[in-house]
Amino acid sequence: MQKPKIVVTRRLPEEALHLLREEASLYVWESETEPIPRDVLLKEVSDAAGIVTNVADPIDREVFDHAPALKVVSTMAVGYDNIDIQTATERKIPVGHTPGVLSETTADLTFALLMATARRIVEADRFVREGKWKSWGPMLLTGPDVYGATIGIIGMGRIGEAVARRASGFAMKILYHNRNRRPEVEQALGAEYRSLDELLTESDYVVLMAPATPQTYRMIGARELSLMKKSAVLINSSRGTNVDEQALYQALKEKRIWAAGLDVFEQEPIGADHPLLTLDNVVVLPHIGSASIATRTKMAVIAAQNALAGIKGEPLLHTVNPEVYEG
Ligand code: GLV
Repeated sequence: MQKPKIVVTRRLPEEALHLLREEASLYVWESETEPIPRDVLLKEVSDAAGIVTNVADPIDREVFDHAPALKVVSTMAVGYDNIDIQTATERKIPVGHTPGVLSETTADLTFALLMATARRIVEADRFVREGKWKSWGPMLLTGPDVYGATIGIIGMGRIGEAVARRASGFAMKILYHNRNRRPEVEQALGAEYRSLDELLTESDYVVLMAPATPQTYRMIGARELSLMKKSAVLINSSRGTNVDEQALYQALKEKRIWAAGLDVFEQEPIGADHPLLTLDNVVVLPHIGSASIATRTKMAVIAAQNALAGIKGEPLLHTVNPEVYEG
């Protein structure tokens, strides 16, 4: 009997491909960095039972329309804003994702970005490479302290909590804003709940950890940036759409906030001519929050397991839309 087909929209670590091959026939877009062309995706899904995807490949209504035999969509990510969940749910197609496994790794990157931005690590590296280092200077490349400062975490989910644990090691005062209060985090880490405006006003580091939803779309805009301290740093390793980039550019250019560290952008990849890239007080990364070798491998394996469960009609390890199993 022919094995059901799974379309893999980007080459995954071999561990995951090996698992998939045991029970499915695969179409794999062989590049790790170039997206699958739209026409290839639409053609390949026409007889597919499953799709394994990632944050960068949109799985929208048109893809579902081209995939009449589809039984599962599985993304190698915790976020799933690139997938039309409503259409998947209407069609009783479970969508799998990989929460939990990437939280500590993403918190590590978030903290690395925070420290790099505060202490001007990238600028300092450029300074040395460009031969500008003539002598030690009392105020050369100075930035704000991280130790003992106030961090405001917007979105206290698993990753937010992991960031708060790191902040606690740096003796930071921890503020947070979230849809719901998190008494256990308040108790364990001394985190204090604040309204969004209070958090923005009081924090030295504002760290965005919220998912991309209609409610969080450009939640940090000109008004919110104007509430931040002039000495404050904005860190975003969640989703680019949570920030109004034009407003952020203006605030940074006019030094109305100190700096920003960004791992995510409204449009990814960010164009080389993007205005933000002209500023020294910005550190930019190419969406690498979960990019440790071990974590990316685990994510790919879970995505493979979700896809295999889905093509067999079994429950996934982590389902975004469990309503598909009701009724
Ligand atoms: C990465 O951005 C993810 O959602 O896993």
